[in-house]
Amino acid sequence: MSPADSKAFDYLTDEHHMIQQAARDFAQNEIAPIAEEFDHSGEFPMETIKKMGEMGFMGIEVPEEYGGAGMDTLAYVLALEEICKADASHGTIMSVNNSLYCYGILRFGTEEQKQKFVTPIATGEKIGAYSLTEPMSGSDAGTMQSLAERDGDEYVLNGRKSWVTSGPVADYIVVFMMTDPEKLHRGVTAFLVDANTPGFSRGKKEPKLGIRASATSEIGFDNCRIPAENRLGKEGEGFKIAMAVLDAGRIGVATQGLGIAEAAYEASLGYVREREAFGKKIGQFQGISFKLADMKTRIEAARGLIHRAAIAKIKSKETGQRYTLEASMAKLYASEMSMFVTHQAVQIHGGMGYSKELPLERYFRDAKITEIYEGTSEIQRLVISRLETGLR
Ligand code: CAA
Repeated sequence: MSPADSKAFDYLTDEHHMIQQAARDFAQNEIAPIAEEFDHSGEFPMETIKKMGEMGFMGIEVPEEYGGAGMDTLAYVLALEEICKADASHGTIMSVNNSLYCYGILRFGTEEQKQKFVTPIATGEKIGAYSLTEPMSGSDAGTMQSLAERDGDEYVLNGRKSWVTSGPVADYIVVFMMTDPEKLHRGVTAFLVDANTPGFSRGKKEPKLGIRASATSEIGFDNCRIPAENRLGKEGEGFKIAMAVLDAGRIGVATQGLGIAEAAYEASLGYVREREAFGKKIGQFQGISFKLADMKTRIEAARGLIHRAAIAKIKSKETGQRYTLEASMAKLYASEMSMFVTHQAVQIHGGMGYSKELPLERYFRDAKITEIYEGTSEIQRLVISRLETGLR
């Protein structure tokens, strides 16, 4: 039974089903046929990303006045799941633009910042990125070394950031730097940087295991001067902004894991009904059918956690309450589920699962990153257990 048919999902509105269907049609007609080619070449899929912008997929939760679709987080996860089912690279680019980039500016930015920096990203004219990590600070994000110094009505930025999704192509980037290193994480400030600013540079594109069409690179700042009005929030608020934005981002990564796993599961279901061995369909062997039962159950458990986190985020708009716990649990479970499901799917397909002639090995490679970026599984366990025990 398709989850959409289940009464358990009666909180989804007609509008939710409409965007889900639009994303499904676009993903299957325009993205699925090119996914293998772009995985192979590692080229950034600019043409389809622009089309996704025109369809409203780059700013699903962005109000219409800033060029977005003006919908909610459930609409976002439903659409993203469909895109990731066709290709996780497109999904990653969409997820960064929506949650890591637009969300932070909408929540913490000024009216001028929203107009200037959100509108062109939400409409797909330009690409956004989020840059927290540095070569020497990943999980321990508060120990960054990049420095932003105030000089009159400008800030002068210096340093190197790494693992920036869409770094090689981004037009605007939310960047976190130290303005007062003695204050440690309380000395971090967020900035909006236009990639055309002198002193900004891009490093080499990272050669990656998966999500190969989503470009990733280092970025550099060498006396890069930006206007003080491009500061996002107050000085010293940057770390909290980074963490609050990651709460939203982690729901997106969880959804990527779900979309990839569903693609692997559906391919497996088709295969076990057709493939024969020892005079039977292989789905008739318990060794295979029990794998499918475990895959399906974990997929639906992940969907439940993701929808719960999305609803918590929707409610947080009114209550102001954090949804950190829900987001971290969804990301932890869905990313590990995605690794499990894609691993089983390769195994069920045997030699064909290992072959590049089928997309199973791509799903397996693409799933791995969901356990790493936007906070590793270990960091999610740390966040969840600290919130539960109140201990550190
Ligand atoms: N929302 C708001 N505030 C938060 C918060 C949240 N979710 N989490 C923490 N804070 C606040 C705390 O309340 C605390 O506030 P005070 O200063 O008032 O005390 C402050 O932030 C510091 O919190 P912690 O003491 O918990 O900080 P910590 O140094 O122990 O680190 C951590 C916590 C969870 C380990 C955090 O550093 C973390 O999430 N690390 C992983 C970073 C990460 O996910 N990086 C990925 C970057 S993006 C990427 O992958 C690339 C890409 O392009 C996709």
